[in-house]
Amino acid sequence: MTDKFSFSLAATDGQARTGHISTPKGEIRTPAFMPVGTAATVKAMLPDHVRATGADIVLGNTYHLMLRPTAERVAKLGGLHQFMNWPRPILTDSGGFQVMSLSKLRKLTEEGVSFQSHIDGSKHMLTPERSIEVQCLLGSDIQMQLDECPAIPIAHEDARNSMLLSARWAERSKQAFENLSKPGQALFGIVQGANYEDLRRESLDRLMEIDFPGYSVGGLAVGEGREEMFRVLDFTTPHMPQTKPRYLMGVGKPADIVGAVARGIDMFDCVAPTRSGRHGQAWTKTGPINIKNAKFADDPTPLDPESDCPASRDYSKAYIHHLFRAGEYLAPMLLTWHNLQYYQDLMSEIRDAISAGQFNEFVSKFKDDTGEELV
Ligand code: GUN
Repeated sequence: MTDKFSFSLAATDGQARTGHISTPKGEIRTPAFMPVGTAATVKAMLPDHVRATGADIVLGNTYHLMLRPTAERVAKLGGLHQFMNWPRPILTDSGGFQVMSLSKLRKLTEEGVSFQSHIDGSKHMLTPERSIEVQCLLGSDIQMQLDECPAIPIAHEDARNSMLLSARWAERSKQAFENLSKPGQALFGIVQGANYEDLRRESLDRLMEIDFPGYSVGGLAVGEGREEMFRVLDFTTPHMPQTKPRYLMGVGKPADIVGAVARGIDMFDCVAPTRSGRHGQAWTKTGPINIKNAKFADDPTPLDPESDCPASRDYSKAYIHHLFRAGEYLAPMLLTWHNLQYYQDLMSEIRDAISAGQFNEFVSKFKDDTGEELV
């Protein structure tokens, strides 16, 4: 075990990369998918089962945890790892993105963003310094700078002003992190700039000047569509440092992940497997299905007879269909578990294919099997 944060590349195939991140809390194999554990829980999952799917790291949210149960309370209870019984690495988002999508009456200034809680209407202020303070109280291993994530489309001038604000917040976040963090923790800068090539380059240049141990690509998967997201990655990732991990925030569906790995991304998080699992959607080797569909009422086959995952192997589609129809708690539990296993198996196959120099073959097979278009 190391007391440092480091990233090591083991193999590349085209732009695709595989390797690992070392942290004091354990190793993260990349490309990595991080299940979302917003409120100190990966919804409907026990931590041991999350781990059994192959997850090396989970994501937590500054915004939610600062409001409830509060970062100070989590710190008093021993930190987020102990609080949620997940001893391995945790990445936390900075809160800016969640404030914009969830809170009421928010106001953005140079200082930060003031807002009212979506839970009880109480008033709060999130500055770059406060976000880092919260993330350090939680004890997260990989922290994010506070940033602004504008919607696309946005005018160039507005996108530039927003990107420059995020760059100034990056500098303040780094200062705060240097004052508050413990050895082995890492802070990532977030590249913004909407879908403008010059702004993405300028954002990256400014962040590289500040110098971070990893770089996130933010501001994507905000409604621009897969093709446009890939176009932005095409002119962004080639300029990112080879020797630092690259994290595409909030992405995505399996086909988004495969396409982004092909463009040099190392880390992902998305609510898709957990959220859509709770609503009856399951990913299978031949694409997504909705288990609530009447055609599964009499289907005796499991979701994946070859899987080592109990949720995928030991329960018939007819049974899970029944559990959803009956509103049983086990229904979302089983589909979440199955979907997380699907995602981690996908990442494992991606890593193996890159190691073997067969990533193109993997992509062709993925397209054939799922019928997905990957531009
Ligand atoms: N999650 C998804 N996109 C973003 C983003 O642009 N910024 C942050 N902080 N979190 C995100």
